[in-house]
Amino acid sequence: MQHISSTLGVPDTSYVPRHVAIIMDGNGRWATQRHLPRVAGHSRGLDAVRAVVEACAARGVQFLTLFAFSSENWRRPADEVSFLMRLFMTALRREVIKMHANNIRVRVVGDLSRFSPRIQQLILDAEARTAGNTGLTVTIAANYGGRWDLLQAMRKMLARSPMLDPDAIDESVLAPHLAMSYAPEPDLFIRTGGEQRISNFLLWQLAYSELYFTDTYWPDFDAAELDKAFASYRQRERRFGRTSAQLLAPGLSGTA
Ligand code: FPP
Repeated sequence: MQHISSTLGVPDTSYVPRHVAIIMDGNGRWATQRHLPRVAGHSRGLDAVRAVVEACAARGVQFLTLFAFSSENWRRPADEVSFLMRLFMTALRREVIKMHANNIRVRVVGDLSRFSPRIQQLILDAEARTAGNTGLTVTIAANYGGRWDLLQAMRKMLARSPMLDPDAIDESVLAPHLAMSYAPEPDLFIRTGGEQRISNFLLWQLAYSELYFTDTYWPDFDAAELDKAFASYRQRERRFGRTSAQLLAPGLSGTA
């Protein structure tokens, strides 16, 4: 299904965001505050993932996208990186079974070539096992970067049509090659942990997303915190470039 681009048309809006994208930040600080090793924060972070997946499914969210590991996270100390890899494997083994039982589809986006063959196989298995599920789609962004996504999309586009006329390149030519072309653009972007940055997450897709930042560290983010973000989202006026007056008379707004 082709989703409406927020820069070309006016996507439908709904009471509950259809697509929620989250940067799960603050695991390390959560742990340090408790005099625990940073990795303890990541373990608790996985508990928070479970709670937020359940809460999104219960609230009728269609797509939940979680930034689990950025292309830049390889720069962390080796033992923290390998802990995160083990946690990722645990999640792919155990959590996916539970998600499958709840009709949740799992997808993973990012440059997966840098992961071990074992992890790559677990990713393929998780995606295949849940491919027929029709409930919430949980996308894990792993070794993902927004710039990487744009570059790989351009490469794919040109590989398919090497003689492409530059003037013929528009959104509808490029967008199908983006890693998350199966999902509508995020309605709501959440970042925990106090920083107010996009950090090379979904650069193309966040064009008209509502942004919500909270100081809460990710391990403390739960259903109640999600509801606060949703309440904030509901108060936003999503104009997609139009004026407030046009929103009151939608018949006059047009989609061009
Ligand atoms: C950011 O906190 C968090 C990460 C880089 C890892 C996120 C991983 C999880 C939440 C657990 C695994 C999840 C899945 C889906 C397998 P930080 O370490 O940057 O925290 P800090 O800013 O306080 O140092």
